[in-house]
Parts: sequence; structure tokens; C-alpha cells
Amino acid sequence: MESLNKPYYRIVAIPGEGIGPEVVQASLTILQQVAQLEGFTLQVDYGWLGATAFEQFGSYFPSATAQLCDRADGIIFGAVNQGGLLELRKHFDFFCNLRPIRIVNSLLHKSSLRPEKVQGLDMLIVRELVSGIYFGPSGRSSDDQGAYGYHTMLYYDHQMRRIARKALQQAQKRRGLLTVAHKENALPHLPWTRLVQEEATEFPGIVVEPMLVDNLAMQMVLNPQRFDVILAGNLFGDILSDIGGALVGSIGLLGSASMNADGFGLYEAIHGTAPDIAGKGIANPLGTLGACILMLQQWGEEQAAQRIMQAQDRILAQGYRTADLSPQKEEILVNTQTLVDLLLAEISTE
Ligand code: IPM
Ligand code: MG
Repeated sequence: MESLNKPYYRIVAIPGEGIGPEVVQASLTILQQVAQLEGFTLQVDYGWLGATAFEQFGSYFPSATAQLCDRADGIIFGAVNQGGLLELRKHFDFFCNLRPIRIVNSLLHKSSLRPEKVQGLDMLIVRELVSGIYFGPSGRSSDDQGAYGYHTMLYYDHQMRRIARKALQQAQKRRGLLTVAHKENALPHLPWTRLVQEEATEFPGIVVEPMLVDNLAMQMVLNPQRFDVILAGNLFGDILSDIGGALVGSIGLLGSASMNADGFGLYEAIHGTAPDIAGKGIANPLGTLGACILMLQQWGEEQAAQRIMQAQDRILAQGYRTADLSPQKEEILVNTQTLVDLLLAEISTE
């Protein structure tokens, strides 16, 4: 008999293409085990996006997928090459993208930087996800000089302000430093600095530090430990977060959460479809699993989140590595399934 007060969550899994299906399946297996151990129920429905959706429905983001997601508690997404993802983000207004970049101790020497440069590294990129140059007026045309193309970086002030408030809230929960990526020396009509500073008057104690995005990229590789929360628009946030992958040793480790104003979210790894290794069963599932941890935390299932995190840290400390982390010497190369099996065993031991 199911107990009546047992929490029940419904998620939509959207595997997509490339390594997407492999890393989503791996993460769901682990989530189901944690659900059992922690006493909640997970119902999983499958949705379609990208190329596989196009084959079946003639649309990269079919309305069937939108409807399925409508009543869900969260969406777990794998990866797609093109089409559908931006529409999905826009459709549910997932404007607030959180990308934590944290070093795992046992992977210090996997960083592109010397271990002492990344020891203790713990930053959070807050990326605006449904506006800016990804969604501004765009097109191709031609005039007397020839054919041309354009994408417009357009932000309403209210869009910059609402993501600024999210970033300020995150800084409040963390170390209180908010670095704002901007490019006002060249793009003065996007006044991120002023708008964030105005919002910050309601967040006493938070230090707002505006930084030109080119300099910020350099500082991220010179002195990444100095950062706490970084706020960036859509394009700059995309670029900066890949630097984070190099800092922690592999982009395959990074997960992200994209939330709308209601706290409904899309959970996905930062990496793409990785066509070179797709179907080989060797992908690193920890990025998508990291995203699932963010989902559990958003639900308030902190114990479940901790269980996975601790299991992951212990397995990595024992030297198990997927190929993206190029195992050396006494480290042990494992494929996706073996890593999942190790995690499942580890999660069950307190
Ligand atoms: C990301 C990806 C996407 C983005 C691509 C696949 C459109 O690079 O989530 O970082 O640019 O937002
Ligand atoms: Mg990206």
C-alpha cells in the first residue's frame, strides 16, 4: 500500500539525440533508486525535441511535448543538435539559468589550470536564457552591398532587472559578491551595471562588481577563485560557462537548472550532443546527473540530493573516470553503465 503522504513527482524526460538518451537514461536510473531510498515516487513520461521530434511530428518542438511538460514537476533534458531547445526555453519562460561551477577535490589535477589555482573553486553563473541576441530580431536579407545577416541583442530593462534580482538572491545565499558581465564600452544601450545596481539597493550587503565581459573571461582563467556569482546575458553566459568546463576538468561534469517565475524548471547538462562518442556508451552522465541534483534541491528533497552528491564524490575519489576525464596511471577508465552501477551501489550505502 502506498502511503498517502508520500511525495509524488511527475517528470518529463526528453532524451533528444547524440549522447542525450544515454545520459538521461543513466540519470533516471539513479533518480529512481534515490526515490525508493528516500520514500518518494517519480513518474516519468517521455517527450520529444529536436531531430527525433521532427521525424515523428514534423516539428522540432511539437505541441505534444509542450502539453506533456505543462503539468510536470520538472523536465530532464539530454541534448539536441539544432531546433527545439530555444523554443522550449522560451515557451515556458525559463529565464533564470543557474550553472554552478564547483571543483571536485579528487579532480583538481584534471583542471586546465594548476591545482592551486582551482582549489576550492565554487562559482555560480546566472545566465539570462530567454532574451538577448538569441531571440532578438534576426534575419538574412540583401541590399546594394550584397547579402547580409543580423541578430539583434535586445533586452527590455525589466528582463535585465528580473534576472538581476535572481542573481542577487543567489549572492545572498552564498558569499555576497555579484560580478556583472557587461560590454558597455561598446554596447552602451544595454546598461546592465546601472540596472543591477538599482535592484541591489534592496539587497543590502551584496557587493555588485561590474566587469567588462572580455576582462571577465580573462579573470576566469587567471584567478577563478575570486568569483562568487556571475550574472550574464544569454550569449555571454553561454560562452563563460564553457570556460567553467575547462576549469573543473571536463564540461561533461556540469549541470544546469533553468527556472521560470513559478519555480518550474528544465534540467540539463551544459554539454551538447557529442556526436563523436554518441551511441558508444562512454559518455559522462555526471552533467545530467548534476542537473537532476539541482531539480531535487528545487523540490526541497535535500537529502536525496546529498545522497547522490556524496556517492558521486566517493566514486570519483576512488579513481573511476569516464573517458572525457582521460584517466591516467592508477585511475580507472569506466563506461557510462559501469559508472551508473558504481553509483547505484554507493548510493545505497550510508
Ligand atoms: C548551452 C548550449 C545552447 C545554448 C545551444 C545548444 C543552443 O550551448 O545550453 O549552453 O547556446 O544555449
Ligand atoms: Mg553552451
